[in-house]
Amino acid sequence: MVPRGPHRITGVPRSVPVAPACAAALLAVALTACGSGAHGTLGGFGVGDPFFPKAGNGGYDVTHYGLTLAYDPRTSRLSGTAAVTARATQDLSAFDLDLRGLDVQSVTVGDHSARWERAGQELTVRPRGGLDDGETFRVTVRYSGVPEPITDPDGSREGWLRTADGALALGEPTGSMAWFPGNHHPSDKASYDLAVTVPQGLRAVSNGELTGERTKAGRTTYTWHTAEPMASYVATLAVGRYDITRTATPAGLPVYVAVDPAKAAASKEALAQIPKVMEWAEYNFGPYPFSSTGAIVDRDADAEYALETQNRPVFPGVPDTETLVHELAHQWFGNSVTPKTWRDMWLNEGFATYAEWLWDEDHGGDSAQKTFDALYDHGDDTYEDLWDFPPARPTSAAHISDSAVYQRGAMVLHRIRQTVGDDTFYDIVQGWAAAHRHGNADTDDFTAYVEKKAPGEDFSGIWEEWLYGDGKPAKD
Ligand code: TRP
Ligand code: ZN
Repeated sequence: MVPRGPHRITGVPRSVPVAPACAAALLAVALTACGSGAHGTLGGFGVGDPFFPKAGNGGYDVTHYGLTLAYDPRTSRLSGTAAVTARATQDLSAFDLDLRGLDVQSVTVGDHSARWERAGQELTVRPRGGLDDGETFRVTVRYSGVPEPITDPDGSREGWLRTADGALALGEPTGSMAWFPGNHHPSDKASYDLAVTVPQGLRAVSNGELTGERTKAGRTTYTWHTAEPMASYVATLAVGRYDITRTATPAGLPVYVAVDPAKAAASKEALAQIPKVMEWAEYNFGPYPFSSTGAIVDRDADAEYALETQNRPVFPGVPDTETLVHELAHQWFGNSVTPKTWRDMWLNEGFATYAEWLWDEDHGGDSAQKTFDALYDHGDDTYEDLWDFPPARPTSAAHISDSAVYQRGAMVLHRIRQTVGDDTFYDIVQGWAAAHRHGNADTDDFTAYVEKKAPGEDFSGIWEEWLYGDGKPAKD
């Protein structure tokens, strides 16, 4: 679990990403660039996320990130060029990218240099002559500096974390703006190519597949390719000393595992379970949505929590089996089927937590029913906030990693299973993953999908009490 801190945010405004929002935006201290543009309207500084109003940007849709980066742990300096290919979804006189810290050296759109300005996490770009609705464009940002960690509303640390021998980039929910400019909201997924240059002897490990490794003049460049859509919050970059193991699952899926040498011996047994977990997960959740799997294991103090970074989750220290199952299950639920907003977080964490229960049930541990019953009767002894709010309505951004999202979210899934029986339940789980594969979905999509798959059942009680209702629901 993510440790919770005291920081809370309240009164989150919903932004309207058009010019009339300018005055409101200024009042809301977002300080987006306001004023009349050359052509069209301003893209706007957010996509209207109920919990992270400044995350993402309006007016365009990214299709590809091409990141060329260099990092040296001795100086902690990152320098990079981000080439972001996107399509305008309205006429644009200006648009924003999210970027926190770092210095911007230049911005070009297509072949032309563009005017730009910064305010907080918003990098506002004014392409010469504006952009037309539907136009595909490439914005290239050259930047450098010492990237910094970010403290989440829940008190945990993400963004750019320095580790014992390098660095680790973690992006949930908003950390990726600490290391590259982008449309940092889960609703805008894209493919990625990264080329990362580090001092010889160190490695750069990221998502997707390693496509090249070249050493020249004491520096090594690693190139990584992610073809499948990826939300930027599950993009990662790990720089440091790593022992690399490249194997394959029985089905032939590449497994790329990078382990800090200090953790290599201790994590061998845990990581040897990856093929078995993948096989179990495919059997239960349906075809794996990506082209490779694996893990990144750093030292215990390098990060505060595990994260389901796409293809290869990150673990601070040796993962236990439940955590491994949890992060691999997120590849289906979270990374392939991605929430439309941060309020839909239970769709990630409820499924990943329920995957742990199912694993236990299938491997000689407690049945999911027993786990459910124990939580229902005594859950608040362990998770004192278990009944604080309904899974689909966290009270604020500070609470999206609470047990009311994780454990109570899993309980919602178990209530559905109790109602429809195992056959239909697994149909729903696999069908849900298939229906929104590589896409985005929200709670309404989910409840509608469940109702469609089990037309004879009445789910209104489950939705009202378990998903949206305050307090501890009646057992039945
Ligand atoms: N998603 C992570 C997991 O459960 C936990 C996590 C890390 C998280 N950072 C977060 C959850 C920020 C919510 C918000 O595997
Ligand atoms: Zn999780």
